[in-house]
Amino acid sequence: MKVSYKDLGLVNTRAMFAKAVKGGYAIPAFNFNNMEQLQAIIQAAVETKSPVILQVSKGARNYANQTLLRYMAQGAVEYAKELGWKKPQIVLHLDHGDSYELCKSCVDFGFSSVMIDGSSLPYEENIALTKKVVKYAHKYDVTVEAELGVLAGVEDEVASEESHYTKPEEVIDFVKKTGCDSLAISIGTSHGAYKFKPEQCTRDPQTGRLVPPPLAFDVLKAIEKKLPGFPIVLHGSSSVPQEYVDIINSNGGNLPDAVGIPEEQLRKAAKSAVCKINIDSDSRLAMTAAIRKYFNEHPEQFDPRQYLKPAREEMKKMYIHKIVNVLGSNGKAR
Ligand code: G3H
Ligand code: 13P
Ligand code: ZN
Repeated sequence: MKVSYKDLGLVNTRAMFAKAVKGGYAIPAFNFNNMEQLQAIIQAAVETKSPVILQVSKGARNYANQTLLRYMAQGAVEYAKELGWKKPQIVLHLDHGDSYELCKSCVDFGFSSVMIDGSSLPYEENIALTKKVVKYAHKYDVTVEAELGVLAGVEDEVASEESHYTKPEEVIDFVKKTGCDSLAISIGTSHGAYKFKPEQCTRDPQTGRLVPPPLAFDVLKAIEKKLPGFPIVLHGSSSVPQEYVDIINSNGGNLPDAVGIPEEQLRKAAKSAVCKINIDSDSRLAMTAAIRKYFNEHPEQFDPRQYLKPAREEMKKMYIHKIVNVLGSNGKAR
């Protein structure tokens, strides 16, 4: 039986993105895999009055089960209402969909937005696949994110040796032919907690920390010029807070030279046509840092609620910080 996201109280991204592009801010797209993460995301969105995108990746589906995650998102809408958000602006989005069948099943199952990631395919094949997904999704008013250009690192299971920036000369043709609602681009971000190799960075002589190279804002500018007002998406936008890396490393962890995208660069991107910023790794780091610290300080504890509570609080603090100090989406869901 088909379920419409509208009956679940979810919204698609269309109006949200149009407002964000005009207003010079970006909507947070947070991945979730478990209850504590979802609680933290919803509490942060409610307290800051920010629209929010809940993303389900392939890894999340394998870990937690797609059906369960969808019902959790449905529950999140009710939870947000209970916390006082009268008309929640919550999107349930498929992150890195890799086939037409998967996107279709998400549309049929209550997702309000899907990503079809054909970025590893030859250009014409990416167009054909994206177009097919758009045709189906739009019948149900589900919005579609596509991707052009390849991010360095691992895109779920699509590995690429190096980053291939999005070619500005292709974007008009791609968007026109596919009818996609938003476009993920490659300008130097990448997934995970190791976004740059040490040899791509300089090192701060004072702290010894890696200083990453800047994002390719010239490419972003050229894309914006070709597609004025069109919603642009940035994947791989965790900033890998060094406080978390330090807490992890000083409590038995080992994350040498973990490095992310500096927040001032994300702040700058959020003010442009970039209207969706994807963050997953920072949540993993916040959770891991809090749990490692708790275990070290309380070796006698074994009730998961005891160590998941500070983890949830740390994630919530991080989400609020991103919304208020980096993306600027606070107060936009009134
Ligand atoms: O796009 C990458 C996201 O961080 C999801 O990663 O498949 O390990 O959940 P995952
Ligand atoms: P990070 O690994 O930088 O958090 O990126 C997440 C992402 O792009 C999910 O699609
Ligand atoms: Zn991604």
